[in-house]
Amino acid sequence: MEEGNAGPVTETPRRMTRRRFLGKAATVSAAAGAASAVLAATSDAPRSLAATPAPTTVGIAPYRPPVYQDITLHVNGQDYNLRVDTRMTLTEAIREEVHLTGTKIPCDQGECGACTVIMDGRTVYSCSILAAAAQGHDILTVESLEQQGQLHPVQAAFIAQDAVQCGFCTSGQIMSVVTLLKSNPNPDEAAIRQAIQGNLCRCGTYTHIIEAAKAAAAQA
Ligand code: FES
Ligand code: FES
Repeated sequence: MEEGNAGPVTETPRRMTRRRFLGKAATVSAAAGAASAVLAATSDAPRSLAATPAPTTVGIAPYRPPVYQDITLHVNGQDYNLRVDTRMTLTEAIREEVHLTGTKIPCDQGECGACTVIMDGRTVYSCSILAAAAQGHDILTVESLEQQGQLHPVQAAFIAQDAVQCGFCTSGQIMSVVTLLKSNPNPDEAAIRQAIQGNLCRCGTYTHIIEAAKAAAAQA
């Protein structure tokens, strides 16, 4: 073959690999962005090609530095003098300041009931109460139930009836059942279901929880 007569040089067809496709897509995208910017800069640019509006900051709360407050919490019969961020919830205070971690905090927004404690004889979601607002109230957590090494009958019944799977909901469920049995020592199934309706169990152990409540009631 004569030199200089090799004909037009053609690129050997290459397989369109994923990497090559992404590379081409990035190039096209960059070119389109540059064209759009040029068009947007001209006064008669079509409106549909104008630059995308800047992201809004609506919904992002401005940073607020912590404000601390000295409070006294009465938990499980003991007073705890604490200095807390005024935004701290009762759950956080119980877990992080009083160091009782039996109360769980899966959702932190009043939806699951795992943070249930007893306040002045009634069940409450401790994640939905500020620690500072819990001053002057009698708070009981799941740690209050065991006495001298003996589990509370409701705790023992939960174990016996296999009412615990992952355990995240368990302390809240137990506190609800304990509260129920105080006011109604012989509840029917409807009363038990009503008592635990604010306690969600993602593992679906409701049948066992109800059996545990019945068993504990029978022992009372
Ligand atoms: S952690 Fe309080 S309701 Fe879920
Ligand atoms: S045992 Fe797992 S959420 Fe209830």
